[in-house]
Amino acid sequence: MIEIDDLTVQFGGVRGLSTLTASLPAPVTGLVGPNGAGKTTLINVLSGFVRPTIGRVMVDGEDLENIAIHKRAAFGIRRTFQNEQVVENLTAGENVAAVLDNVPTDGRPRRELIEAALEFVGLAAKRNVPGHSLNAYQRRMLEIARATVGRPRLVMMDEPGAGLAQHESEHLRHIIKEMHGYCGAQVLLVDHDVDLISATCTATLVLDFGSAIAYGPTQDVLADPKVRAAYLGVLEETT
Ligand SMILES: Nc1ncnc2c1ncn2[C@@H]1O[C@H](COP(=O)(O)OP(=O)(O)OP(=O)(O)O)[C@@H](O)[C@H]1O
Ligand SMILES: [Mg+2]
Repeated sequence: MIEIDDLTVQFGGVRGLSTLTASLPAPVTGLVGPNGAGKTTLINVLSGFVRPTIGRVMVDGEDLENIAIHKRAAFGIRRTFQNEQVVENLTAGENVAAVLDNVPTDGRPRRELIEAALEFVGLAAKRNVPGHSLNAYQRRMLEIARATVGRPRLVMMDEPGAGLAQHESEHLRHIIKEMHGYCGAQVLLVDHDVDLISATCTATLVLDFGSAIAYGPTQDVLADPKVRAAYLGVLEETT
């Protein structure tokens, strides 16, 4: 459960987020909006890379102000990046293992946890392949394995679907659908692919210029003329 209360993030003269208030309880929540709307900024606030200028965010009732950035992963807040952050000189298995050094587990042996995480994203056969030898899609899958290993409570993905071939998109969609059941975490998905959001997210929050312009069941939100005008770039009169 994510609760955002009067959140403003100011970057000098630019507002990343503007008095945003929202409660996001859905197990798989979409976060959409045009370029520069504040989606990545919200993920950055939740993961601790950016501090609120005003307001606060809570996850599962815990005010994140009280959880230092280096403790957020252990608390269960995990993410993937718009540009993958795979460690080039470590193998896929070692990349996952490095996360396990910092997060609590359910007590199963490390090797088993790493295997399960790689298996979940379809990378079991690549466990000994170094990061630099994985292709873009495999690297993205490895980031998801890293974000879901251990006991995450919130997994945030920043545009995991960008630039994928069709069969890769289908695999990603499958993984996102399975994710909550697999690791128990709430999932927050940022993507410009409306079909992906629509197929995976029960509820969706729409941002524009740092503020919420709509929130509710995904299908209702995507059909909202206000959202279509802002996000899909179509005029309200034509919808
Ligand atoms: N570190 C920063 N310094 C200055 N301005 C920033 C910084 N990060 C974000 N911004 C600005 O804040 C606003 C929101 O940016 P953000 O990256 O959150 O948008 P976004 O919704 O993720 O967009 P996109 O779909 O293009 O990824 C933009 O105007 C952006 O230029
Ligand atoms: Mg972004």
